[in-house]
Amino acid sequence: MQQSLKSAHSGAVIWLTGLSGAGKSTLSNALAQTLHSLHYSHYVLDGDRLREGLNANLGFSPADRTENVRRVGEVAALFADAGLICIVAVISPYAADRATARAAAERMGRAFHEVHVATDLATCEARDPKGLYRRARSGQLQGFTGIDAPYEIPQAPQLRVQTAAQSVDASVMRLVDYVKQHCPLL
Ligand code: ADX
Repeated sequence: MQQSLKSAHSGAVIWLTGLSGAGKSTLSNALAQTLHSLHYSHYVLDGDRLREGLNANLGFSPADRTENVRRVGEVAALFADAGLICIVAVISPYAADRATARAAAERMGRAFHEVHVATDLATCEARDPKGLYRRARSGQLQGFTGIDAPYEIPQAPQLRVQTAAQSVDASVMRLVDYVKQHCPLL
């Protein structure tokens, strides 16, 4: 463990996993805004953004997703080691890969909190913000999570957020309460 920035809380990883369109990015950004107003140091690692740079050489085969999640897990652990609340938004469909990400944080003595953004497939597909479900259903896009690629539901996440059953604000409040309870300001 390296010497951290002078933060008023310990660094930790808040790992949001769920289907495409589940609301991971929306919740991450809203959580970050609230944490900012509460004077938490934080950073958001978003799968879509990381795939433009750090992970630009990776696709969506099982092996590439494993490597994608491994890299994100290592970077998140480093941010947590620097004393930040690192909020991660990646599908991370395989339980074993999420376990690897947890191990990376814990290797640095940092807590890893798995949050399942448990929006059901039908809701994600109805939202379809990027038109990707439509393309996957019509066969234009292959290996799409939830359609013809697996998503392994977390069996024992630290928190499960139901975005279909409650408003975005209510989901964000649950996340904020969780962080305040588990990563308290010192
Ligand atoms: S992960 O499976 O490796 O964790 P990641 O979170 O980085 O995925 O990226 C998911 C995003 O990539 C989706 O939100 C979507 O915008 C886009 N995407 C493009 N192709 C696929 C696909 N075949 N399966 C899932 N998401 C895809």
